[in-house]
Amino acid sequence: MEILVQERDLRMKVLHVVGARPNFMKAAPVYRALAAGGNEQTLVHTGQHYDALMSDVFFKALGIPNPDESLNVGSGSHAQQTAAIMSRFEPVVLAHKPDIVLVYGDVNSTVAAALVCAKLGIRVGHVEAGLRSFDRTMPEEINRLVTDQLADLLFTPSADGDENLAREGVATEKVFLVGNVMIDTLIQFLPKADEIFPQLKADLSLDSFGLVTLHRPSNVDDESTFLPMLQALDSLSKELPLIFPVHPRTRQKWSGQLARCNPNIRAIEPLGYLEFLALQKNAKVVITDSGGIQEETTYLGTPCLTLRENTERPITVTLGTNVLIGRDWELLREKFHEALRSDHSQKGRPPFWDGKASERIAEILTHQIP
Ligand code: UD1
Repeated sequence: MEILVQERDLRMKVLHVVGARPNFMKAAPVYRALAAGGNEQTLVHTGQHYDALMSDVFFKALGIPNPDESLNVGSGSHAQQTAAIMSRFEPVVLAHKPDIVLVYGDVNSTVAAALVCAKLGIRVGHVEAGLRSFDRTMPEEINRLVTDQLADLLFTPSADGDENLAREGVATEKVFLVGNVMIDTLIQFLPKADEIFPQLKADLSLDSFGLVTLHRPSNVDDESTFLPMLQALDSLSKELPLIFPVHPRTRQKWSGQLARCNPNIRAIEPLGYLEFLALQKNAKVVITDSGGIQEETTYLGTPCLTLRENTERPITVTLGTNVLIGRDWELLREKFHEALRSDHSQKGRPPFWDGKASERIAEILTHQIP
């Protein structure tokens, strides 16, 4: 009887906040690792992303339980969305009284929840802390800076994160280099992605192909940046068909232009986790402005050409397959051809990108939370 009481005391009440597509694959393995320890968990979905293809399909594919609480905030300006998450999250977190709230990545849901908790004196853990692009025109950079100042425990994916946090004055005893939780998910689901690939290939009538994603406001919001980019892709697609699952932000603005591209640009609906992973692994080259995809391609060894001037994930450039292209279309063409000639072999994997980052987080939490 005495032992039972003690065991119960060791368990934590953990509340996870997710809201946008890239959060789901980060929270899934942490939730699983904490469930294995018998902890009480609550999952809050802010509703920042709400389309089935941006949200539900990921819950299903990744085996995440349905959210305990849905805040249904939907879209809006940054201020509107952040404020809506804050005001709807506050009563929820007060009702649940967690020992710690875990927030993920760098989206508006991340910073909004961290701010609410900081004001209520509820401990916050930031998973994927310390990343910096040093570009404050990116909304995500603001979210990262603020969240990391507020968090009580900071879990970094790579050593550059620790260095950034030290430089910003974050106490080192709050910072834990645990590795990359998104890669935990990738490692877990790669066999399933391999299984579905032959059928996917047949469905899309594919042989050799490249994969494209574009959704950063700095790339897709203005005609003067997006149209030359699309033109460059249109030209490359004559050499290699490009599968382009289109993000809603991009689709909303450019569906007409996308429809007028040559048929080798295959602008399709957003894909599910397994489907996208299978395509990333088997693409000749990936062209993207996503943060997570720079990391996944590095793990997979697929050449990645990033249409951005900077990256908050420099390790993907120094150790991995990533090349920053910016808006240099000549460089894009050159690196594209290099990628087509490359043997597609794995270049290097950052330390701790080993499928065990979430277990490390669970272990640290059991020691840090009284
Ligand atoms: C958000 C994140 C970004 C992340 C991206 C991944 C912030 C500031 N941005 O950007 O860091 O890389 O998610 O996808 O948190 N929309 C839909 N259906 C949805 C969601 C959005 O149609 O389910 C449309 C809405 O018109 C919305 C627009 O897409 O206005 C942009 O959505 P929003 O969540 O504001 O930003 P993202 O570009 O998705």
